[in-house]
Amino acid sequence: MGMVTKSAKFKIGGELPVCRMGYGAMQLTGPGVWGPPDDEDNARAVLRRAIELGVNFIDTADVYGPDDNERTIRDALYPYPAGLVIGTKGGLVRAGPATRENPGISMNGSERHIRGAVEGSLRKLKLECIDLYQLHRIDPVIPIEETMGVFRALRDEGKIRHVGLSEVGVEEIERARSVLEIATVQNVYNLVTRMHEDVLAYCEQNMIAFIPFWPLHSGHLARSEAMHDIAKRCGATTAQVALAWLLQKSPSIILIPGTSSIEHLEQNIGALDVELSAADIDALELMVGNQS
Ligand SMILES: NC(=O)c1ccc[n+]([C@@H]2O[C@H](COP(=O)([O-])OP(=O)(O)OC[C@H]3O[C@@H](n4cnc5c(N)ncnc54)[C@H](OP(=O)(O)O)[C@@H]3O)[C@@H](O)[C@H]2O)c1
Repeated sequence: MGMVTKSAKFKIGGELPVCRMGYGAMQLTGPGVWGPPDDEDNARAVLRRAIELGVNFIDTADVYGPDDNERTIRDALYPYPAGLVIGTKGGLVRAGPATRENPGISMNGSERHIRGAVEGSLRKLKLECIDLYQLHRIDPVIPIEETMGVFRALRDEGKIRHVGLSEVGVEEIERARSVLEIATVQNVYNLVTRMHEDVLAYCEQNMIAFIPFWPLHSGHLARSEAMHDIAKRCGATTAQVALAWLLQKSPSIILIPGTSSIEHLEQNIGALDVELSAADIDALELMVGNQS
């Protein structure tokens, strides 16, 4: 694995330097990712604290709320500090709150939908160009090449700058790259969910940022009994160990842990200072196992 400098920035699309500890804003919505957060003052405070602590990459999506999450980011941070990169997403439609049985979303990668989504995100975020625009999911009835053609046109029109994908395999990334450059891939990945290791390796080889979603396994890794002893030995919390493991896994990984708590935010950013030894990493991987 080699030494990875955690403080080194990753240049998205080879040109936008971001701290490898970003922030995922999805938790700053109502229950089931539906509606605005219960405590809007707190949501704005979390976002401002993230910036204060050096975060300059924020992940959001038009379906978080829907719409409310992008507005919360604008309300908290506009006018945006220099160097802030906001990555948003389009291509999904949310009909209602997510529940355990029904995530409440459907895919739409049509030109009409994507163009409307980009215009909406530009308006809500009060931006003239979106630095990173990610296809949230591939529409099963529209070939990825067709949707990427729309993204390429939007890029050429100056509405979006770099393009990312989410929940994709290597073959899908290659099909997308036959149409335009891909700067980022956002797939589920964490200590216990490692089925996308081939995608991570591909991203690393091709200078594509790999942005694991659910880096804390939706919070379960912050409560892991199995990791307790290693965390204690490192003088860290289990959440920090889970995040440090990802940071050390690959220099192409950019983290977007989600939290609605300033205390957890500060703790998560502190993972940049946690150093896991090779023995710790072996023990963690053995102990927690790959449950994917
Ligand atoms: N591309 C996609 O399809 C996709 C899907 C899901 C998510 N995402 C993105 O990925 C980001 C991260 O995912 P996520 O927020 O669902 O999951 P996550 O980062 O794995 O975990 C978030 C959960 O962990 C808790 N938590 C965070 N830090 C903690 C700490 N230090 N100690 C204890 N608990 C802690 C949070 O609760 P508290 O609020 O109490 O801290 C929250 O319940 C999202 O914000 C979103 O931007 C993308």
